[in-house]
Amino acid sequence: MGAVDQATTGGHLARYDEALARDPMSAFGLVREWMRTDWRALFAELRERRPVFVTPAFTVVTRFADVVEVLSHEEVFTVRAFGPRLEAALDGPFMLSRDATPMNWREKGLMQVMLAPGDVAAVRELVGRVADEALDAAVARGRVEAVHELFRHVALEVCARYFGFPGPDPQTLSRWTRAVVTDGFANFQGDPEIQAASVAAGAEMTAHLRDRLAERRAALRAGQDPPDDVFARLVGTALPAATAVDDERIVANMAGLPLGFVESGPGAMVEAVEQLLLRPAVLAEAVEAAADPDPARFDAYVWEALRFNPFFKLLPRLCERDHVLAAGTPRRTVIPAGTFVLAAPASAMFDADVVTEPEEFRPDRPGHHRLFFGHGHHACLGVHPARAIVCEAVRRLLLRPGVRLLPPPEGEVVRSHGIFPDRFVLGLGQEGGER
Ligand code: HEM
Repeated sequence: MGAVDQATTGGHLARYDEALARDPMSAFGLVREWMRTDWRALFAELRERRPVFVTPAFTVVTRFADVVEVLSHEEVFTVRAFGPRLEAALDGPFMLSRDATPMNWREKGLMQVMLAPGDVAAVRELVGRVADEALDAAVARGRVEAVHELFRHVALEVCARYFGFPGPDPQTLSRWTRAVVTDGFANFQGDPEIQAASVAAGAEMTAHLRDRLAERRAALRAGQDPPDDVFARLVGTALPAATAVDDERIVANMAGLPLGFVESGPGAMVEAVEQLLLRPAVLAEAVEAAADPDPARFDAYVWEALRFNPFFKLLPRLCERDHVLAAGTPRRTVIPAGTFVLAAPASAMFDADVVTEPEEFRPDRPGHHRLFFGHGHHACLGVHPARAIVCEAVRRLLLRPGVRLLPPPEGEVVRSHGIFPDRFVLGLGQEGGER
């Protein structure tokens, strides 16, 4: 039975409406639980019957065209939904905490220059080497804990060697990003402890970066050759006074690199690998493609796998003024000012109006149907290196013989806050060889 049929008989909406009439808090809890565990069936039913799903707490936008519309109107649907949390951590503005300001335009442009698409081949090569070293170390044990031994390790090495931001040590950098990103994107109830942990981590991270920036400036003054990394490029860039960025802006943007990547990168890698391993026939094709000298053939499997469990399922926005969504169509809906809107790329990528046979695994889908990196004003800054990093880390893993899911509970992905993967043990090599 396809997801639409399941959804039609599944009756999520009937259960929601009944719970809402009886006890609104329980209705809210139901939707949150379904988003975590049963999102494909829930979204299928919503797309069909209530594509703009209005609840007392939030409104979910589920169709492809509507998700793109929300993300294309940054002055109406703003990041004020989470921006103040990021600003509390960074003690100042950042591109992902504001909309349509001169700072957005200037700093995104500057950082796009710093993350040059021409770096991608070398970054991919670096990731391949780091991943292979980690896998070599794991293979004798017949298993790998893919989150920390492999994917987060790769991400932290990219921060160190490409961004030029190793942190005091990988564990501390990892702790900082987790604390800030958890508050920004997973603290729906506004838990003050999570907020305080984020502010403390952000303060440590920015203080650390200020010290490293001072050291790098001193080294430049002493005539030392700078390392070849993004931090050095930023420090070495002298813009005309009218467009210059000061040291605080360099610190905020350097902090934004691991914040944008250390959770999302490993998150995407874990979800894609799990989806591939769940489909043995597809996996066999992907492994064959992994040996192709043209990486594009393999990469298409990673993106199609991720569609079946995207790391970013919902992108939160605050509606600043009344907006007519899907104007001129039967779905025309007024979104009132003040609405907390959740644009759902995870649902959009299953919208049959745009994505042909969405329930089928088809690696040949066109790139513009993929919304993994957002869309519009806040579309991912790191998209070029990130695409290569995610795919190469997954490729190196799948090139190893005998990669397999282990039976639950050991083989299950453990996710913190239901979002951030923390543990994913996989078998490697001959079956029965695990130690
Ligand atoms: C090199 C690695 C990465 C860096 C440096 C990075 C950095 C960023 C930054 C700074 C933004 C905000 C852009 C803006 O406000 O204009 C952003 C947005 C975004 N990134 Fe990335 N990112 C990386 C990897 C990833 C990965 C692996 C994913 C998921 C597969 C991802 C998904 C997104 C999404 C969905 C947004 C849009 C958020 C929104 O609209 O609310 N990023 N990224």
